[in-house]
Amino acid sequence: MPKEQKSEAMRLDRFLSNQLNISRADAKELIKKRLVTVNGVTAKLFDMKVDPEGDEVVSEGKAVTYRKHVYIMLNKPSGVVCATRDRLSETVLELIPEELRRDGLFPAGRLDKDTEGFVLITDDGAFAHEILSPKKHVEKRYFAQLEKPAKESDKELFASGMKIDGGDVCLPAKLEITENPNEVYITLREGMYHQIKRMAEAADNKVVFLKRVSIGGLPLDPDLALGESREILHKEIEKIYAKT
Ligand code: URA
Repeated sequence: MPKEQKSEAMRLDRFLSNQLNISRADAKELIKKRLVTVNGVTAKLFDMKVDPEGDEVVSEGKAVTYRKHVYIMLNKPSGVVCATRDRLSETVLELIPEELRRDGLFPAGRLDKDTEGFVLITDDGAFAHEILSPKKHVEKRYFAQLEKPAKESDKELFASGMKIDGGDVCLPAKLEITENPNEVYITLREGMYHQIKRMAEAADNKVVFLKRVSIGGLPLDPDLALGESREILHKEIEKIYAKT
């Protein structure tokens, strides 16, 4: 988990709106109706300052637990783009259910429009940077179906730090060939544009289907159907940093 900085004091209406995923107007309404207490005292001011980690805020009788950031696992279907907005195609953010939405969400890393699988969506920029930086060694594992059977010699090619179309040189990657040699797993710790497709082409092959199956030590939840998402639990965030 990225190290949490001490939280800053925040206006009560903003705190409620962020944490309960309601509009600022609805948050003000709760305060106006005297339904919110801070440390046991009924709040009267919308702009009252609260310490998100230190103060105990209760709304409509329920404690409002503070979460600075959210982390969401989405099983992306083909045909959806990894962007916050797009004029033509549906975006991954549009697949996130209302109750998980909040301001500032974005996909941490991009899959191609036709790639399926694990997309991590968060509002935590520092965390996204950590899991995407090749220096942090957070591996991304993919399942790929290939047009032609993979060759044993491809393993060495992938591990060697191969040169791909356009002159880019990849960091060493792991290729695992399954019992069906047209089906492989590829593990990368970087994410260049169309990287696996370009690696397959450099090995005289072609990707016909691609799915990201894990990020670091956290696999895509097999219970998530295509297009479904769920929040990532705190302990699962730690798994991301564990080796695949
Ligand atoms: N490599 C690709 O070619 N496409 C992806 O979406 C991810 C990795």
